[in-house]
Amino acid sequence: METREQWASKMGFILAAVGSAVGLGNIWRFSYVTGESGGAAFLIIYVLCIFLVGLPVLLAEFSVGRRGQSDVIGSFNNIAPGKPWVLGGIIGVLTSFLILSFYGVIAGWVVFFLFSYLTGSAQAVAGGEYADFFVNFIGGAAGPVIWQVIFMAAVVAIVYFGIKKGIELSNKIFMPLLALIILILAGYALTLDGAGEGLSFLFTPDWSAFGDASVYAAAVGQAFFTLSLGMGAMIAYSSYLPKNTKLPSAAGTVVTLDTLFAIIAGIMIFPVVFTFGVDPAAGPALIFITLPEVFNMMGGAGTFFAILFFFLVAIAALSSAISLLEVSVSYVMRQFNWSRKKAALIAGVVVTLFGVPSALSQGGPLSGEIFGLSFLDLVDTITDKYTLPLSGLIVALFVGWGWNKVDALKETGLTDSLIGVVWLWFIRVIAPLGILWILLQNIFG
Ligand code: PHE
Ligand code: NA
Repeated sequence: METREQWASKMGFILAAVGSAVGLGNIWRFSYVTGESGGAAFLIIYVLCIFLVGLPVLLAEFSVGRRGQSDVIGSFNNIAPGKPWVLGGIIGVLTSFLILSFYGVIAGWVVFFLFSYLTGSAQAVAGGEYADFFVNFIGGAAGPVIWQVIFMAAVVAIVYFGIKKGIELSNKIFMPLLALIILILAGYALTLDGAGEGLSFLFTPDWSAFGDASVYAAAVGQAFFTLSLGMGAMIAYSSYLPKNTKLPSAAGTVVTLDTLFAIIAGIMIFPVVFTFGVDPAAGPALIFITLPEVFNMMGGAGTFFAILFFFLVAIAALSSAISLLEVSVSYVMRQFNWSRKKAALIAGVVVTLFGVPSALSQGGPLSGEIFGLSFLDLVDTITDKYTLPLSGLIVALFVGWGWNKVDALKETGLTDSLIGVVWLWFIRVIAPLGILWILLQNIFG
């Protein structure tokens, strides 16, 4: 057997993990969930969830991967052979597969918008007509699939080249680029007339929202999604770490940078929304309809900002999607003893095919509803509401209770430290209770 691939440096691992974390979740999902959940009140609860639930679970995932030294299912089996904990790994692999299937579709829309601004066809749309432009595109029979396939081909190509030469290298280029672009855009947004109003929407809480249970559920769901938890991506990435890397500082860095990206994305989007008088609660269409209307109103500069914006989102989505594909690829490599290249191609094709019904479900030929949801929304709901929290819950319980305490602390380098004790109790009690409460609310609410 070949020796397991490894990251070239701790920095490379952190950048890749940040690449996984920073994605559509920070820009597209964060802005519309925040918009729908009332702005600042949601932001406060969200940041609490990130540090009380997200950070401890992220550190737990890192320690499972690094200790397990295998794909997500293999890692659970290596640490606790013959125990039912492996269920957490199985659900994780399934979830990452399902999420990637529709993540590729939405990322394909982003690439289509980028392309349309580059060729000039998006600017040619008249003001007020962007909803039609978007709806016609996603309702097509070929367009959404073609752009999904283009995006997924890029994902497969990167994973194909492996940990160092594919994933680590691409993230070393993408992450500084993302930081630069988002700072330019947010800086510009702050010069707009509506900046004050946008910032107060984001940072001045409406206290009544704190009594609304659904805001908490949305915040925990967003915390999981944004940190790439519950689907094995962070377990897969940390399994390529050498034994001596310090995990707590890596987890802290990833969480901090992901949260900063989300907040800066909010600083970029809400001033624009208020300057041009559009609805902050526009929902998932915010970046595909609302923002293009705004770019249109900006005139010439709009094209420049639109291209930067959609390029930013496309790169963020790409670095997240590769981590999702890596979960399946590392699993089939071990399970079927395939080479990385073969595994990347086959897993990539299968997940893309499974995404096609989602691509065609938004007004296209497969728009029939199942349980009142389109196929895309169904897959999104199943993962976001049920399998993600479930797999996160299992990871937390596994590291907190299933794994012996000494090993868990040793793996994270937190033996005999106060932080270690605090972390252990967060993983044992606080995070599981928080997740369980959300899960029950999602099931019965
Ligand atoms: N964290 C990513 C985002 O915020 C989404 C994602 C989830 C990526 C799971 C990889 C794994 O967009
Ligand atoms: Na994120």
